[in-house]
Amino acid sequence: MSNICLIGYMGSGKSSAGRLAADILKYDFDDTDDIIVRREGISIPEIFEKNGESYFRGLETGTLKELCESNVSKMLLSTGGGLPVRMENRVLLKKFGRVIYLRARTETLYERVKEDRGRPLLETDDKLGRIRQMLANRDPIYREASDCIIDTDDMVLAQVAKEIVNIAKSS
Ligand code: S3P
Repeated sequence: MSNICLIGYMGSGKSSAGRLAADILKYDFDDTDDIIVRREGISIPEIFEKNGESYFRGLETGTLKELCESNVSKMLLSTGGGLPVRMENRVLLKKFGRVIYLRARTETLYERVKEDRGRPLLETDDKLGRIRQMLANRDPIYREASDCIIDTDDMVLAQVAKEIVNIAKSS
């Protein structure tokens, strides 16, 4: 099994650290959000606005199923922060590859996403409170879904990427 999946909350660095790690490993890189946006031809906020969250969740599961059936190898897949919430997706993630949870504290995540406008679930007056509440629900799910955890709070992206590379090489 030579694929790697990155999971974690919005702002945990899945895409940026994932891209760096994939370059070093010479793995293909993709991101479930990017795949969905390419296919639908509209942005994530537009998908939420037009079709609602449950439609988007269906697209996530469909995307993951196709990747599992495609027999790809040496792929590093970054996933949307809510993807592991569906149990069905947690099973698919494990089937696809080794699952790494990029963990970070609420405050760290807040600092990374506070100016961002591309995440519909964080469009609220109390972004910090929303992150705290969602993370309390999701952290146990991310832990259950993962084979290993990288604590990213005090790391720069290059360090996170290096940890991902080490894990990939040890698997
Ligand atoms: C979401 C995370 C986003 C994106 C969508 C929903 C979530 O991806 O899939 O806005 O539920 O946490 P990132 O984690 O890449 O920001």
